[in-house]
Amino acid sequence: MIIGLAPMDWFTDCAMRDVTQEIFDKYSNASLLDKGGVRVDLFLRTEFMTADGYCAKPQAVIRHLMTSPIQKNLIAQIHGGNIKTLLKTVKDINKKYAKDFIGIELNLGCPAHNIMKSGGGSELLRCKEETLKIIEALSNASKLPFSIKTRTGLDQKDRENQTEFLVKASKFCSMITIHGRTVKQAYTGEADREFIYNLKKLVDKKCKIIGNWWIHSYEEAKARLGNLDGVMIGLAAIGNPRIFTPYVQTFWQKVSLKEKRDTIIKHLDLMLKYNSDQSEERIVIEFRKHLSQYIKWIPDSREFKVKMSEIKNQKDLISKVEKFLN
Ligand SMILES: Cc1cc2nc3c(=O)[nH]c(=O)nc-3n(C[C@H](O)[C@H](O)[C@H](O)COP(=O)(O)O)c2cc1C
Repeated sequence: MIIGLAPMDWFTDCAMRDVTQEIFDKYSNASLLDKGGVRVDLFLRTEFMTADGYCAKPQAVIRHLMTSPIQKNLIAQIHGGNIKTLLKTVKDINKKYAKDFIGIELNLGCPAHNIMKSGGGSELLRCKEETLKIIEALSNASKLPFSIKTRTGLDQKDRENQTEFLVKASKFCSMITIHGRTVKQAYTGEADREFIYNLKKLVDKKCKIIGNWWIHSYEEAKARLGNLDGVMIGLAAIGNPRIFTPYVQTFWQKVSLKEKRDTIIKHLDLMLKYNSDQSEERIVIEFRKHLSQYIKWIPDSREFKVKMSEIKNQKDLISKVEKFLN
């Protein structure tokens, strides 16, 4: 089974991916990962990088492709709607960065206005015939396996067209990941798992299908895998890297409390290391979005969060975290 950390802009940067991979390795190395004997592979993706931006001013966006040697199965994700810039970006990644990645992925599902305005993300689902040509061209241009991440369609009415489109696209893709909602639904409402199970029956046999729908635990991922090749977890993985292992982290276990403390300290340290061009204060403030998720279920975490909002340097943050989680 493939279990993937969903790409999330402003969250799944190099630091969060390192932390996720490290916790995953800690349990899988001990051969304890799945007592049921299922082989589990963790897949990671970069936050998506704009192809237009990369071609215009690479140094402004290249941080998206930053990686570290511990990240084993990392896919470079890009977005855009212009075939020329997409092709140049795919060719460049193959030429300059191929050793860092196991694949290149095009986003065909983002509902954000700024992404759609540039013709990318879910805007690509409006004219599916044209988009198929883009997918074929990018796939042919890439030596690295090519994949797409998309949704169940623009809206409910688009479901059948979307299935037909994805069956055709599967001939050019090593993997298709489906967020089980339509573009219209954005991030709320019931996810349509049946769409994804059904698609798996229809696509090219060589194309892996990964399901993505607000999964809350490893057990749920396994129970709902069905005929799919894997699942992907997004929001529930923020502040909870153990979600990719069967070992649930509970605040009443001293051992997991220590792991949480160590993980928080490590995560902040990595963020500072990978963003050394930015001020400590800025990174510590940015880290709060992760910190609030790490401590979510711990008693008195609300009061702690209020205190944290005054802290602006690493030393103070560590000392407060150590006191709170001991
Ligand atoms: C803050 C945020 C940023 C996201 N950024 C990306 C992105 O860069 N690329 C992408 O394909 N999907 C992106 N997504 C969508 C997620 O990858 C995922 O499909 C979605 O959150 C549903 O999974 P979940 O319910 O497990 O969170 C983003 C989602 C969120 C909430």
